[in-house]
Amino acid sequence: MIIRPASADDLADINAVHEACGRRAWDPAVLDHSDDRLVVVAVVDGKIVAAAKTHHQSTPEGGAPQGYYLGGLAVHPSHRREGIGLALTRVRVEWVWARADTVHYFTDEDNIASLQMHAAFGFEEIARLPTILGAQANREHLVLFRATRPGDRRARATDRT
Ligand SMILES: CC(C)(COP(=O)(O)OP(=O)(O)OC[C@H]1O[C@@H](n2cnc3c(N)ncnc32)[C@H](O)[C@@H]1OP(=O)(O)O)[C@@H](O)C(=O)NCCC(=O)NCCS
Repeated sequence: MIIRPASADDLADINAVHEACGRRAWDPAVLDHSDDRLVVVAVVDGKIVAAAKTHHQSTPEGGAPQGYYLGGLAVHPSHRREGIGLALTRVRVEWVWARADTVHYFTDEDNIASLQMHAAFGFEEIARLPTILGAQANREHLVLFRATRPGDRRARATDRT
C-alpha cells in the first residue's frame, strides 16, 4: 500500500470509493491546494482504494470548537480490515501535530468501526450533538472527539504533579 497526497486527477477514483461506501461524492474544490488541509489517498496495486482529509475550522460553530478536524475517511469495502484506515489516520494526525496540539473528529454514535479505529489515537469524547459543522447524525447524535499531541499530554500530566 502507498499513501500519497491526492491530486485533482484523483477525484473520479476517490468518488468511486465513496460510491462503493454509500457516501456523498466530493466536490472538486476539496482537491484544490491549500496549506491548511491535507487530502490523502491509499493506493493498492495501482488503484485508489481509500481517501481521507483534514479540515481547519477557523471559528467555533454550534458546539464544535475551532481547530483541525479529521474527516472524509472512506475505505473501499473490499479493502477493509487491512490497516488502511489506521494508516490514513496516522498520517493525518502527524500532519496536524506539526501545526497544532489538538485534533478533532466526529462520527455517528453507532459507527463502531470508526469508533474502534480512532480509539488507537487517544481521542476523548467532548460532546454529543445532532449536527456538527453541517453534518447530520444518522440517528440521534454525532459524537465529537478531541485528541492531544502526546508530548503535550505528558507535559500537562507533569505540570499537575
Ligand atoms: C471506519 C473505516 C474507515 C475503517 O477502515 P479500515 O481500513 O477497515 O480500518 P483498519 O483496518 O485500519 O482497522 C483498524 C482497527 O479498527 C477497528 N475496526 C475497524 N473496522 C472495524 C469494525 N467493522 N468493527 C470493529 N472494529 C473495527 C479494529 O480494532 C481494527 O483492528 P483489527 O482489524 O486488527 O481488529 C471503514 O470501515 C470505512 O470506510 N467505513 C465507512 C466510512 C466511515 O464510516 N468512515 C469513518 C467516518 S468518521
